[in-house]
Amino acid sequence: MEQSKKELSIDAKTQYKVPFGTVSITDEARKLIDDALDRKMVTRGKYVAEFERQFASLFDAKHGIAVSSGTDADALSLAVLYDYGAQRGDEIIIPALTFIATGNAVLQAGFNPVFVDVKRKTLNIDVDKIEAAITDKTRAIMPVHLMGKPADMDPIMALAKKYNLYVIEDTAEAHGAEYKGKPAGRIGHMAAYSLYAAHIVTTIEGGIVITDDDAMAEALRSLRNHGIVNKFEFKRIGFSAKMNEIEAAVGIGNVAIFQQILEKRRRNLLYLIEKFEKYDSFFITITEGEEEKIGPHAFSVILKEGLKFTKDQFVEYLDQKGVDSRNLFYSIPTQCPSYAFLGHSLGDFSEAEYCADHGFHVGIHQDIELEQLDYFVGVVEQFIQEKG
Ligand SMILES: Cc1ncc(COP(=O)(O)O)c(C=O)c1O
Repeated sequence: MEQSKKELSIDAKTQYKVPFGTVSITDEARKLIDDALDRKMVTRGKYVAEFERQFASLFDAKHGIAVSSGTDADALSLAVLYDYGAQRGDEIIIPALTFIATGNAVLQAGFNPVFVDVKRKTLNIDVDKIEAAITDKTRAIMPVHLMGKPADMDPIMALAKKYNLYVIEDTAEAHGAEYKGKPAGRIGHMAAYSLYAAHIVTTIEGGIVITDDDAMAEALRSLRNHGIVNKFEFKRIGFSAKMNEIEAAVGIGNVAIFQQILEKRRRNLLYLIEKFEKYDSFFITITEGEEEKIGPHAFSVILKEGLKFTKDQFVEYLDQKGVDSRNLFYSIPTQCPSYAFLGHSLGDFSEAEYCADHGFHVGIHQDIELEQLDYFVGVVEQFIQEKG
């Protein structure tokens, strides 16, 4: 194809023509960083408080509690449940296919993860399989809005109500996503976001939890600082998970351009969804339903069954042509060796395993231009011509 022959510049840092990730550090952020350094006020201070306020107000939430990572945001919001009668060893329902952090956070908080398979088409937890996983030890459901596509929250909230469970949304990858007119992250009791460099709002490393609940917010503030309640009185088993002023300054810079980043990523996502329609017999890609808005993390591609080529051949070809990609995560309980202790066997989470074995994702971030997407599609076309 014409576009694929066009010469694109190579990213100096990654050596890729279509690099996977980026990070926006604005001039405003640089000024705030300089100010914090000049004043030698670099641990948690006014910029962290300001970032929390600004991030929460993006989604009209009452509280934002900034922490060190998205994994901490997940773990601390789960640990809040000890204030609500949860016991160590209780169960938290999570999808089998997600970034491993979701599973790790459950264990770090002292709970046991109970995995539920996902749907290949949506990448998200299969809501029809949740009820069978609920036991008298279940305390919460933690749906993940993978790749920025909202999980099907209505049935999840209905189950939570029926069984008296908490819902914590892992919104790490879904800043700005919407489900039936509501922001993802505003449907459950708390929502945990990653602010790692790959995400729409970033603090480089970092995380934040949002909630409207005053008591939950207070517990989160205590948990991020070793369970502190008063000066040097420690009431909870806490974490050391504080954000610093430099990270918060980067975050404030990103909040100011949140809509711009979101719109650019959405433009890129919708462009690729349309371009991939012609490859419908080869691939399942992420799609946007009528009642949702994706807050794009990346563009996922899953090979359909019975093709003449494998995912590894395809990804290798893309890599050689300068298109960077990542695997579409793994089925945590059956494909991640550190979870073997749970005793599951390959085949128990067949949809998640299929996505992992046949899927990958490529960057559609704010520094990617349409000519790079055309180049990517051109490489796909060449591959299909040669191997399809
Ligand atoms: C779904 C999901 N949950 C949790 C996390 C953990 O975030 P972090 O890497 O900031 O710890 C990530 C990371 O991006 C993620 O994708």
